[in-house]
Amino acid sequence: MKNKVITSKDVHLFYDKFEALKGIDLDFNEHEITALIGPSGCGKSTYLRTLNRMNDLIPTAHVSGDIRLRGQDIYAADQDVVQLRKAVGMVFQQPNPFPFSIYDNVVYGLRLAGVKDRATLDEAVETSLKAAAIWDEVKDKLHDSALSLSGGQQQRVCIARVLAVRPDVILMDEPTSALDPISSTQIENMLLELRDQYTIILVTHNMHQASRISDRTAFFLQGELIEVDETKKIFLTPTQKETEDYITGRFG
Ligand SMILES: Nc1ncnc2c1ncn2[C@@H]1O[C@H](COP(=O)(O)OP(=O)(O)OP(=O)(O)O)[C@@H](O)[C@H]1O
Ligand SMILES: [Mg+2]
Repeated sequence: MKNKVITSKDVHLFYDKFEALKGIDLDFNEHEITALIGPSGCGKSTYLRTLNRMNDLIPTAHVSGDIRLRGQDIYAADQDVVQLRKAVGMVFQQPNPFPFSIYDNVVYGLRLAGVKDRATLDEAVETSLKAAAIWDEVKDKLHDSALSLSGGQQQRVCIARVLAVRPDVILMDEPTSALDPISSTQIENMLLELRDQYTIILVTHNMHQASRISDRTAFFLQGELIEVDETKKIFLTPTQKETEDYITGRFG
């Protein structure tokens, strides 16, 4: 029996009067990659954002339900949202490095947390860039601007920036969709390595990616969770007709 890192029950989200999530029950196992799939507009990004309260930043968004990180209600009044977003880090579709050096990008979160010791920061930079599989490419130019890197390299620096604060869970919203196939494969391989230490939740439109690297797959449709199971089961013998239609490319 695997440990559940995040549990979510009866999650509803309204943007004003539009119900974007219609009662989602979904849990995530420790040290697994869970893929969230489904057609455009079905609520994948919306759901992902409920898991570290990024929806708090959207004034029209109203969430209800029960979402817990290791048993703690993340919507509790006394939840520190900065702490939460450290524990549940996020990587976006477009690489979004800050216009600073590679080094300063990676240590951004640590500096915010007040870490000043040079050796600690140096160590975090090396460890995080190695874990993000980009150390060899950038070790001789750590003080160059992160914006001088290719898109695939920028995305790996953004992943290193998330890893540097030692999150428990990493949310990824189509992290490779803006990248070329080689960069995408590099990131997929890295995720398979990171799985031993992190719990990863990955939104993807790429069925090949979901089937290659995820342990479990959840299929969303129009704000509902249609089916969740082991990835093999979802791709080979889904129980719901909508799931089968989607993965065989009949819609979406
Ligand atoms: N800030 C917002 N305000 C109002 N409606 C929104 C907002 N963000 C998303 N929506 C709506 O909520 C629904 C779900 O959107 P969401 O972005 O979660 O879908 P998605 O599954 O991530 O789609 P995609 O695959 O295209 O990224 C859509 O109908 C969308 O138009
Ligand atoms: Mg989305």
